[in-house]
Amino acid sequence: MSKNPSLEEDDEAMPISEVVKRFKRLRLVFEPSLGVLGFFLVGLCLVFSFFYLDYRTVAKTKSHGFSDQSERFLWLKELDAGPGDSNNNINTDENRVEFLEESGNGCDVFDGRWVWDESYPLYQSKDCAFLDEGFRCTEFGRPDYFYTKWRWQPTHCVLPRFDAKLMLEKLRNKRLVFVGDSIGRNQWESLLCLLSSAVDNKDSIYEVNNKTITKHMGFFVFMFQDYNCTVEYYRAPFLVLQSRPPKGSPEKVKTTLKLETMDWSADKWIDADILVFNTGHWWNYEKTIRGGCYFQVGERVRMRMKIEHAYRRAMKTVVKWIQEEVDSNRTQVFFRTFAPVHFRGGDWRTGGTCHMETLPDFGASLVPLETWEHLKLLQEVVSSPYYLNRSETVKLKLLKITAMAAQRNDGHPSLYYLGSAGPAPFHREDCSHWCLPGVPDSWNEILFALFLKHEGYTRSNNGDPDNFT
Ligand SMILES: *[C@@H]1O[C@H](CO)[C@@H](O)[C@H](O)[C@H]1NC(C)=O
Ligand SMILES: *[C@@H]1O[C@H](CO)[C@@H](O)[C@H](O)[C@H]1NC(C)=O
Ligand SMILES: *[C@@H]1O[C@H](CO)[C@@H](O)[C@H](O)[C@H]1NC(C)=O
Ligand SMILES: *[C@@H]1O[C@H](CO)[C@@H](O)[C@H](O)[C@H]1NC(C)=O
Repeated sequence: MSKNPSLEEDDEAMPISEVVKRFKRLRLVFEPSLGVLGFFLVGLCLVFSFFYLDYRTVAKTKSHGFSDQSERFLWLKELDAGPGDSNNNINTDENRVEFLEESGNGCDVFDGRWVWDESYPLYQSKDCAFLDEGFRCTEFGRPDYFYTKWRWQPTHCVLPRFDAKLMLEKLRNKRLVFVGDSIGRNQWESLLCLLSSAVDNKDSIYEVNNKTITKHMGFFVFMFQDYNCTVEYYRAPFLVLQSRPPKGSPEKVKTTLKLETMDWSADKWIDADILVFNTGHWWNYEKTIRGGCYFQVGERVRMRMKIEHAYRRAMKTVVKWIQEEVDSNRTQVFFRTFAPVHFRGGDWRTGGTCHMETLPDFGASLVPLETWEHLKLLQEVVSSPYYLNRSETVKLKLLKITAMAAQRNDGHPSLYYLGSAGPAPFHREDCSHWCLPGVPDSWNEILFALFLKHEGYTRSNNGDPDNFT
């Protein structure tokens, strides 16, 4: 296992000098005059009363902190259901085809928008035993629950509502495997919750080696006994192999990433029925070079290799491996694209925050450029002709969630990831992972839809298997 700090351990204290600077800046902002402050407070009250008049029904939570977002909330809801109509979920679907019908073939389910839906969330975290404390935001003090109420609505078709029983039935005698970093674990736990909501006897769902879910464990295999199906997670944050450096390497080289070799766990999941990969968050200086982890191609350690080159090289290895090693008659392969982080005013080391972000940002203005770079590189590699003969079909489908997740600055645990230890300090927020129920549920709803489509499932059951990306 690597000695690098994991995504979970990301947060390091920011340097004292930085704290002082920030404090000074704050003082400057607030010093000018009491008059301005008073004016500001009156304005705040006005906005609040406006907010309460129209949205008593949804504003049952503690109200502090929503003032700057209330207008946007009004506007967002109006977009969907019309003002004051908080029970109206969907009213514009008549013109859309069902994704699972034949007419839904070719619909790009990743092109769409978030709509407010009172029937969400699909489960409660307290009813789900499989969640990390770090994802149980509401249980550990997050005051709003707006983030649980958004449903993804594709522009040109209607996704089937998640049906846990149907999915379990389709998964009978099968293995569904997530491989990747802790955001992959985030999605895996979401799916465990979604699926287990349809199982009455929770004791019939168990880890086959009796392991309890903790961070950093190598892998977990959860069995749904009534269906003889397993939903598994393998921790492989780079997807390629990280191990000891070759003999004679410089002393500062503690480990290397073998960019041409898959992670050691690959032979455990090569014959899974469904594979869901992800990687991305560990491809940076902090999690590689700084911890003495360098890149290796063949027998050579490339001391100066740029991280984006290493990432591209590794993605080629993964795609090549999928093309050559995976039996596509048996295994459906998905690759979930990079899930953006939302640190405002810094990153995880420098006190960046997402606390009090309670509404989506449809302009996605907070998302760092680096996110789109990741996406671009991955898309290039996947569509690269280098590994594909013309007649050969690409054996993996991208779960292109980057753009949809980019709008969900409101979906992160922020201060509420330490569980019973209480809220974290303001400068140590988690704006990388996602609260559950929340954003990863929607990735799984799409996974569910694509899986059913692949299985040839339609309401009328006359479907052609898929023909989409
Ligand atoms: C359970 O599923 C596995 C495949 O994952 C299969 O090999 C095995 O035969 C199944 N067991 C039963 C009792 O059906
Ligand atoms: C798991 O735990 C149960 C009860 O504690 C025990 O009966 C079972 O044998 C254990 N299974 C494994 C694989 O250790
Ligand atoms: C997949 O199935 C088809 C049809 O059953 C068969 O012709 C083909 O050889 C199979 N491919 C592999 C890699 O097994
Ligand atoms: C492309 O096809 C040729 C001939 O069928 C084969 O020799 C070659 O290995 C293939 N390339 C890849 C990358 O699969």
